[in-house]
Amino acid sequence: MRTLTVLTSGGDAPGMNAAIQAVVKIGASRGFDVLGVERGYDGLIDGHTRLLTRHLGDLVIPEPAVDGIGALGGTVLGSSRSPRFFDPEHRAVAAANLRAWGCEGLIVIGGNGSIAGAHALATECEIPIAAIPASIDNDIGLTRESIGVDTALNTIVEACDRISDTARSHHRAFVVEVMGRDSGYLAMASAVATAADAVLLPEQSRSYDEIIDGVVACIRHSFSEVRGKNRVLIIKAEGVDIPTHMLVDAVSAEVEDMDVDVRGTVLGHLVRGGNSSFRDRLIAGRFGLIAVDAVLNGKTDLMVGWNLTDMGEATSDNFVRVFPIIDVLRETEALLDGTSTVAHDRVARMEKIQGVLSL
Ligand code: F6P
Repeated sequence: MRTLTVLTSGGDAPGMNAAIQAVVKIGASRGFDVLGVERGYDGLIDGHTRLLTRHLGDLVIPEPAVDGIGALGGTVLGSSRSPRFFDPEHRAVAAANLRAWGCEGLIVIGGNGSIAGAHALATECEIPIAAIPASIDNDIGLTRESIGVDTALNTIVEACDRISDTARSHHRAFVVEVMGRDSGYLAMASAVATAADAVLLPEQSRSYDEIIDGVVACIRHSFSEVRGKNRVLIIKAEGVDIPTHMLVDAVSAEVEDMDVDVRGTVLGHLVRGGNSSFRDRLIAGRFGLIAVDAVLNGKTDLMVGWNLTDMGEATSDNFVRVFPIIDVLRETEALLDGTSTVAHDRVARMEKIQGVLSL
């Protein structure tokens, strides 16, 4: 019996199940049993697993429980944020478990912390390890998109469309906060798609006063007689360091002279759930194939990335390339501290359209 192991770790993202399904199907088609680890790195340390394949004569086939999971949000394997995995002694236990299971390759599906964990384990353990980027935040270096981003954006757009319906009916201004941790990507992308009037991003490092003044100016302009709008939509990224209710109170006090109601909605974890979109399922499936074949070819300490045509190592899929995780971690840090050209271009693009947004 030859075995591959798969786990999901960190914040769940829609499309993680599609990636698990792909890993199971491709692993089975290559004659491997696939062992699913429950609750991420904690399960790897504690040895909690579930067999996701079974044997039918000479064939290895997915367990019936895997059928149809590709559509579901969340992760059927469960996930965790595992402080214990930072400790080399606990990682040694995890590596010993993998050896005891006869594991010939480990696929880690998760975000930044999970990918860093995969790197640490890969440098200490001879078993090939590949990471698949999955996080709604789109804050992982060397992939244009991670699994979950597309579904999260569709959810945000639908929520903002609904909020706009009621806002227009009551001549209201809404501040809608979207997840993303320190990354403003979801806010930027959804602001364009929903024709928001303004967007507040952590990458712009604006002061408290600048933010309040900007939002007040936007509301005054939009509701002025000349402009005559009947809805104002301001999308605020979670990483902007003012709680939404405080922002709404401060702005409301500044526009008291106007006949306008300012409301706030924090979308929160709503954005992380839901059936995965076609695009997330597509990306997950294509990542799964390349990640499994990479570990079966003995490659390790790598991440698969989407649509970066001239970087990393080419694969059989034109849209998927592989990158050493160490390079991914470096670029991720630069994305978040704003020194990456990708982060710089994103903010410059948003600043260019700030004036356009409020038109
Ligand atoms: O990284 C995904 C994410 O949803 C972030 O957008 C958010 O800041 C964080 O996870 C929330 O984490 P938790 O569910 O552990 O509170």
